[in-house]
Amino acid sequence: MFRTHTCGELSIKNKGQVVTLAGWMQRSRDLGGMTFIDLRDRYGLTQLVFNMDSNKALCEEARKLGREFVIQATGTVTERSNKNLKIATGEIEIVVDKLVILNKAATPPFTIEDETDGGDELRMRYRYLDLRRNPVRQNLELRHKMAQETRKYLDSLSFLEVETPVLIKSTPEGARDFVVPSRLNQGQFYALPQSPQQLKQLLMVAGFDRYFQIVKCFRDEDLRADRQPEFTQIDCEMAFVEQEDILNTFEGLVKHLFKTVKGVEFDKPFLRMPFEEAMNSYGNDKPDLRFGMKIHELTGMVKGKGFSIFDQAEYVGGINAEGCSEYTRKQLDELTEWVKRPQIGATGLIYVKLNNDGTIKSSVDKFFTPDDLKALADVFGAKTGDLLFIMAGKKKKTLSQLSELRLEMGSKLGLRDKNKFAPLWVVDFPLFEWDEETQRFYAMHHPFTSPKPEDVPFFESDPGRVRANAYDCVINGVELGGGSIRIFDQQLQQIMFRILGFTKEQAEYQFGFLMNAFTYGAPPHGGIAFGFDRLTSMFAGLDSIRDVIAFPKNNAGRDVMMDTPSIISNEQLTELSIRVDKKE
Ligand code: AMO
Repeated sequence: MFRTHTCGELSIKNKGQVVTLAGWMQRSRDLGGMTFIDLRDRYGLTQLVFNMDSNKALCEEARKLGREFVIQATGTVTERSNKNLKIATGEIEIVVDKLVILNKAATPPFTIEDETDGGDELRMRYRYLDLRRNPVRQNLELRHKMAQETRKYLDSLSFLEVETPVLIKSTPEGARDFVVPSRLNQGQFYALPQSPQQLKQLLMVAGFDRYFQIVKCFRDEDLRADRQPEFTQIDCEMAFVEQEDILNTFEGLVKHLFKTVKGVEFDKPFLRMPFEEAMNSYGNDKPDLRFGMKIHELTGMVKGKGFSIFDQAEYVGGINAEGCSEYTRKQLDELTEWVKRPQIGATGLIYVKLNNDGTIKSSVDKFFTPDDLKALADVFGAKTGDLLFIMAGKKKKTLSQLSELRLEMGSKLGLRDKNKFAPLWVVDFPLFEWDEETQRFYAMHHPFTSPKPEDVPFFESDPGRVRANAYDCVINGVELGGGSIRIFDQQLQQIMFRILGFTKEQAEYQFGFLMNAFTYGAPPHGGIAFGFDRLTSMFAGLDSIRDVIAFPKNNAGRDVMMDTPSIISNEQLTELSIRVDKKE
């Protein structure tokens, strides 16, 4: 037997036992005639002790061990005189009488400690070393627990876990596909699934009724802290359901995870907020409800006072930063510069201070009387000591800029506590989204999402007005999951494709198999998918999903450990009939 115990389990109860442990040498200290070694494995740290007086040869050998050497040590569990109550094994140490070096180790490029000196790039290059660190390993343990609890909950409700293929046909779901050339079918390509959307719908046609899968999805899109080119979904679909059934079932899943994994219970049902309200009051479709600071529209009130920026604007709106009236000129200038950065793209920021002495001061005093400003303040329910920020411009853009400013102020004021959770369902999304650039409609969710029956009359005359049976689960400003009730009527699906600009032939080529399946008795169905990485990173209190993924890609989509994407040999290319135009 390599080991009798792990490095995390021995305690005073084991005093006197002869044990064998195996693991990595975390650190060593020589104190007079003694050498102490912290031995580490996945489960914890145990102190080994070597004594120059009682066993000189062994102690000298121990002094030669380098960081991260893999060793096996046998000895007696002894009570420590100098106890460390911060760790589980801190009351004991092992007085070693046999030491085996199982493997030497090169000096690691960064310290393998909770607080490491390794930068991001280095940690990713040596991810297997990074994964030895407690915080990173704990994130993966959390991920494992969440996957287990997900399976437990869904299994208890008769969901079947079914695997779907990874080599599929290109499916338009908003992002670009990753494609895989076929050697056996030269000139033809598979695509990696952006999600198993159509496959899970086919499982409903097949009568599976309740499906789930914890599944890898692939999207070739611009990356951010919460986006990876390959990520994991808890993907689900149900037959014979309405929107309410899905929301209740999966609110149950989220609550189950919070309760079993984090010990957090929500006593009330999740708030349901129509998309339009989310956009108008928070400026985006994933509002962070840990704090108020709602956006209020002022367009009608501020026109005709001679201030051309307001007069010309399609939309004027603002937020109230409560208790911030003492912001200095410098702070206001900094915020103005912040909203003017290209990422936000505002042209400026107007403020109204409700000073503690009862006066009102604003950057538009030339155009607005104190009474005018007081009337604006009343829209926000603002009081003495508050500070209003106002922005103007095109409606959609200004709302989005106000949303960014709101989040920034929320962070500055400490209102975005990572241990507080504010879940909601955003519902009633528009079915279509108009794209100015290409001058056409796109499906806001995907082409299989059903319209609200009462909006069907506007389907062809005013598509922008049609709302969808689609929903997102949002917590703390993060879109954790989204789904919809699907179209299961072929005729409606054809109309949908037409509005989305697919010719009959294109629709047939891309979705023929699904449409054909629908002719054989498709049940009413709908589903949802949660971003498993996002969910885990929220539970771990992290800002990026990278640290809950064992081997993530960097922001350029590269795996810096494997150093890929990389070129392939000419033989491989020839086999695939692919010619690469060399790019500088
Ligand atoms: P959607 O595209 O909304 O829906 O994706 C579902 C959830 O997956 C997560 N997610 C991501 N996480 C990390 N990196 C990414 N690049 C990434 N993209 C998405 C988000 C998102 O809410 N087939 C539909 C679901 C359905 O209709 O049932 C779908 O994939 O948390």
